[in-house]
Amino acid sequence: MLSSPDSARICTMPAAQPKITHSDDYVEYCRETARHVRNLHDLALRGRNKEEITRQIHERIVEAVGLEPGDDLVDIGCGDGTLLRMAERIGTESAIGLLATAEEVAVAQRSGFNVRQGFTDQLPIADESASVVVCNNVLLIVPREKIAGSLREMYRIAKHHARIFVGEIPFVPNPDADPKFETRRETLSYLYRTYGLRTWFGMLRRMAYWTVAGKPAVILDGSRISFYAMPEEFIGMAKEAGLDLVRYWQHEHPNTRNNYLFRKAS
Ligand SMILES: C[S@@+](CC[C@H](N)C(=O)[O-])C[C@H]1O[C@@H](n2cnc3c(N)ncnc32)[C@H](O)[C@@H]1O
Repeated sequence: MLSSPDSARICTMPAAQPKITHSDDYVEYCRETARHVRNLHDLALRGRNKEEITRQIHERIVEAVGLEPGDDLVDIGCGDGTLLRMAERIGTESAIGLLATAEEVAVAQRSGFNVRQGFTDQLPIADESASVVVCNNVLLIVPREKIAGSLREMYRIAKHHARIFVGEIPFVPNPDADPKFETRRETLSYLYRTYGLRTWFGMLRRMAYWTVAGKPAVILDGSRISFYAMPEEFIGMAKEAGLDLVRYWQHEHPNTRNNYLFRKAS
């Protein structure tokens, strides 16, 4: 039986909690979001209570590409399926959405959407099959070295003269990111001070899950921008892939990004 003061301390001291590590792996962030999804709009990864902004953004995309009943739409990184739902209302010939992970696909399929898993630089879509290609708020989280390949994939799946909308390309680098703390106490205290009780409680629940499920303490950062470009550079990259610029304009929410409309070059 243990009886010395030292051994008593060994029995009663709480086990040291492992240090928190931080990851910028956006695909893992998408997977994690889908695993803990509370409502479908979480898949848009725009934050809570932003449904109205997501709706407005997609209404403007519908207008910009002139989506019509005869169109075959591919929405790369379709989030919560808002655009697919609009396409259904318009009565497009077909509408398919792509998502980064099988977990997101499962959630979207439960809501009745026609979705598949696929990455921007390896689209599981046949050559020249889309009259409209949309990729909104996606390339900014794709590593820079995959951007040229992603634009070439858009060209490959586009029909002759297809309209190609690539939205929310930042023209400035990453905004100030949250500090990365190693301990749970510092993390929780920062979240409470900066974002309030709801965010604090969400993180507390996640920490409890790590402990109960024996999972590593990893915080996935969903706010890091991997790719940004000034218009001249991005238009040049698209041109190289065979996409001709129709026009570009500043995005509204947030206004540090641009939207681009291209046509497949003849
Ligand atoms: C920020 S959400 C944008 C959703 C939607 N387009 C919108 O504007 O509301 C990013 C989407 O891109 C997808 N995604 C993330 N990384 C991707 C990649 N490498 N290739 C294709 N899709 C990706 C995610 O599955 C998610 O649906």
